[in-house]
Amino acid sequence: MKIAILGSGNVGSALAPGLVRSGHSVSFGVRDAASAKSLKAGTLASAVPLRTVPEASADADVIIVTTPPEAALSLVPQLGDVRSKLIIDATNSVRTRPEPYPTAFHAIKALTKSEGVVKCFNSTGFENMLNPTYPGFGGIDMFCAGNDKKGKQVARQLALDIGFGECWDFGGDDKVELLEKFALSWINLAILQGHGRGIAFKVIKRS
Ligand SMILES: NC(=O)c1ccc[n+]([C@@H]2O[C@H](COP(=O)([O-])OP(=O)(O)OC[C@H]3O[C@@H](n4cnc5c(N)ncnc54)[C@H](OP(=O)(O)O)[C@@H]3O)[C@@H](O)[C@H]2O)c1
Repeated sequence: MKIAILGSGNVGSALAPGLVRSGHSVSFGVRDAASAKSLKAGTLASAVPLRTVPEASADADVIIVTTPPEAALSLVPQLGDVRSKLIIDATNSVRTRPEPYPTAFHAIKALTKSEGVVKCFNSTGFENMLNPTYPGFGGIDMFCAGNDKKGKQVARQLALDIGFGECWDFGGDDKVELLEKFALSWINLAILQGHGRGIAFKVIKRS
């Protein structure tokens, strides 16, 4: 698939290599190709071109938003007609939010008037997105939410392509904020409770 990753910071740079490895055509959409994060991303993921947001999005089947959540407000007008595309929101409104919307997911959905918006790749640290495999446990789990069932299938496949063990469906649009709270649970354990960023969630089921 043709994938535009908006933002080339921790999360954008962590998702790009796995997507490229699994055969996707990936480009970064950045606001400043000369920023420190853009330059670092260009080094880490040399196969991923740095383009402007409109250029990267125009060409893409899937747009993954990996910016601060409030950037959604200025990004959407640059995306053009996205009704045939899937937008995956990987942001968390932890410190800031795209006022008056509670999350970037809600802002993007309202401003694009597109049904093709899902939340995914927000619930674990970027290091786990770069390498989702834990020795002895295999791939850790990812989670997605939103009403767009086909979009969630695509997000799940991308998560599996990157190396996640499973991508669990958290539910519809009404579960998007819960999925952000779930991300906060990871932040709480990893950072506030001091367990470190090398921890991850995996669902186990009794057979
Ligand atoms: N860090 C994590 O482990 C993690 C995990 C899950 C989810 N998240 C969420 O993912 C998002 C990104 O986190 P991050 O750690 O990757 O942040 P980061 O390293 O600070 O990177 C943010 C990226 O967004 C770009 N950006 C900022 N404002 C923009 C705007 N108005 N228009 C276009 N691009 C803009 C930055 O570009 P410049 O280079 O020009 O500044 C940079 O490339 C956040 O919403 C965060 O809550 C983070």
